[in-house]
Amino acid sequence: MRNIIITGGAGFIGSHVVRLFVNKYPDYHIINVDKLTYAGNLANLKDIEDKPNYTFVKADICDFETIMGIFRKHNVDGVIHLAAESHVDRSIKDPFTFAQTNVMGTLSMLQAAKLYWESLPEKWEGKRFYHISTDEVYGALEMTDPEGIEPPFTTKASSGKHHLAYGSKFFTEDLKYQPHSPYSAAKASSDHFVRAFHDTYGMPTIVTNCSNNYGPYQFPEKLIPLFINNIRHRKPLPVYGKGENVRDWLFVEDHARAIDLIFHKGTIAETYNIGGFNEWKNIDIIKVVINTVDRILGRKEGEDMDLITYVTDRAGHDMRYAIDSTKLQKELGWEPSLQFEEGIEKTVRWYLDNQAWMDNITSGEYEKYYESMYANR
Ligand code: NAD
Ligand code: TYD
Repeated sequence: MRNIIITGGAGFIGSHVVRLFVNKYPDYHIINVDKLTYAGNLANLKDIEDKPNYTFVKADICDFETIMGIFRKHNVDGVIHLAAESHVDRSIKDPFTFAQTNVMGTLSMLQAAKLYWESLPEKWEGKRFYHISTDEVYGALEMTDPEGIEPPFTTKASSGKHHLAYGSKFFTEDLKYQPHSPYSAAKASSDHFVRAFHDTYGMPTIVTNCSNNYGPYQFPEKLIPLFINNIRHRKPLPVYGKGENVRDWLFVEDHARAIDLIFHKGTIAETYNIGGFNEWKNIDIIKVVINTVDRILGRKEGEDMDLITYVTDRAGHDMRYAIDSTKLQKELGWEPSLQFEEGIEKTVRWYLDNQAWMDNITSGEYEKYYESMYANR
């Protein structure tokens, strides 16, 4: 029996990790600790909420005493820490909340784990604190090419497969941190605290930095679900700047599989970058999404292209993210299971088939947020 806290389990990625662990490991007790902020939604976990090996605890990770109580009550021996404020645009408006949750909340989790595990006779033996972070801590990559070829050019991933790249550099685990947004600065700070707990106290920690995720249950303030919903309702699609920024997209279930693998087989104190060698310019991905939604809804493919609306760029907008996941692929044999075309088809279908899930979020409070966010763009 293992008792594992998953923080942020009611959010987008967390709900996929909780589902995977609850279903795959009936002999583990999964304790989902989530504050249920605007981004947390228990509807994401309807299918597993009655499983005997699952417990939900509504709690703020910053509330150290409560977190300590959860460790003691459930004899916790593993943590997969995902709870965070996660949206860059919100961090630009309200950096304090990001420092509070992402930095102080992570510190509170670390300190509770430390005090509880140090109090046990076996101490660190069999324990693991796994911190989920982002590639955004590395800053932004240039759009350059090795030999004067106009990007995108084709390069080879560790698997030997060819892929498109918009520059010659990639995020590797040894790069120095250069976060630009309040979100990534707060995540970078939390990563440093996790490593400090290993280096100072010997806590068995692991950190992973993943690229942009997409898939079911993502809160519709993020590019892909926001745009799917707007296309459906024929609302404008606010493209920041020229839409030239590049992101490296990974299907969320592939991230959850990587988390499972690394939690069980990853080397203590190591960092692993997770990504699928799948770079896209925003404008290109937006066109794929428009075509896919139109086709599935029986509209003429591409007829909603005129919804594209170029708006003021995001402040400090990072140009390009691209992960090199060679280390993870070589050491632990992980590979993404889905081609992007399959992943985006699955994702668009899921949002269109689950309109009630979307409507529940987009009515009420969200509408006010959305209006205030986009009013002055
Ligand atoms: P999300 O915003 O969808 O979910 C965050 C969850 O954390 C929500 O359920 C929320 O209620 C909970 N939470 C927030 N503050 C809390 C607090 N103080 N106490 C307890 N719970 C709290 O985020 P996501 O996209 O699922 O991201 C999860 C993690 O993965 C984050 O740490 C994020 O930095 C990281 N990450 C995300 C991506 C991505 O593309 N979404 C990529 C790489 C890494
Ligand atoms: P987002 O989903 O917010 O993820 P992140 O900022 O963590 O990469 O945004 C993905 C990209 O899409 C990013 O370059 C910003 C851009 N974007 C838009 O152009 N319009 C939008 O309405 C949103 C939400 C994002």
